[in-house]
Amino acid sequence: MQRVCENDILQSILSKGDIVVETNGRVALVTGAASGIGRDAALRLERDGFTVVGIDVDEAGLKATAAVAARMTWQECDVTSATSVQSAVARVLTDHGRLDSVLNSAGITGPTVPTWDLREEDWARVVAVNLTGTYNVVKAALGPMREAGYGRIVNMASIAGKEGNPNLMAYSATKAGVIGLTKSVAKEVATEGVLANSVAPAVVRTPINEGVDPETQAYMVAKIPMGRLGEVEEVSELISYLASERCSFSTGACFDLSGGRATY
Ligand SMILES: NC(=O)c1ccc[n+]([C@@H]2O[C@H](COP(=O)([O-])OP(=O)(O)OC[C@H]3O[C@@H](n4cnc5c(N)ncnc54)[C@H](O)[C@@H]3O)[C@@H](O)[C@H]2O)c1
Repeated sequence: MQRVCENDILQSILSKGDIVVETNGRVALVTGAASGIGRDAALRLERDGFTVVGIDVDEAGLKATAAVAARMTWQECDVTSATSVQSAVARVLTDHGRLDSVLNSAGITGPTVPTWDLREEDWARVVAVNLTGTYNVVKAALGPMREAGYGRIVNMASIAGKEGNPNLMAYSATKAGVIGLTKSVAKEVATEGVLANSVAPAVVRTPINEGVDPETQAYMVAKIPMGRLGEVEEVSELISYLASERCSFSTGACFDLSGGRATY
């Protein structure tokens, strides 16, 4: 039997197969839980003791994540739809009675093209998923979090939002938007026990980069002083901290995770 998590505020022990996960009594909502960073972070938060609800548009991917999780449940949900997001959050509250932490990891890059070739519909889609989607989830989560006087919001931004990657203008603009959104929200609720931070990784080895052309990928890796891609487990390590009460005096911050690429 493998013991995965030790936690002082142990409330119950649930098991699946030979893995025992001690719960910490807290509930986390993870968007983009079907793939990449969201998938790995959902599993990490569960090992940390959270009861995790994953949401995504990719039902098959959600099922695959849940298949290797101890007790993660999932809901198919498009974060671009405010009503779908509100329903998802309402169901979390009905099923679990609380919402302590949120990770906004759902995201798309859009096409890798110069700005003059970027079609309006591609611009609109990237804005809808990356920026409006984050807004929808943050807004829906703030109600129960403010009422409870506790919350941790973690938003996936990107180094692209700080520096601007050529040929990924919409992506870069939305990630800059996520950094600003997070800073604003954090100040609004700074005295209410609700903390909001963003994470700005350089390129991380996940499926999102499969659609980015090789030249742009090479450009992104060449900018990293460590000379390598990041791994999802390295992102989850930071998310684990930011989504927990261990994070207590940081809010509105944008945390670098870039192998040395970020210089501010
Ligand atoms: N991987 C990287 O290099 C990298 C670097 C910096 C930032 N990020 C950010 O991290 C986050 C996760 O990226 P990833 O690499 O894990 O990508 P990924 O493609 O592996 O996962 C993204 C997930 O978001 C889901 N998604 C897309 N549109 C959605 C929608 N409308 N509603 C709900 N779910 C939707 C996808 O189905 C997918 O499961 C993204 O916000 C991305 O911008 C990634």
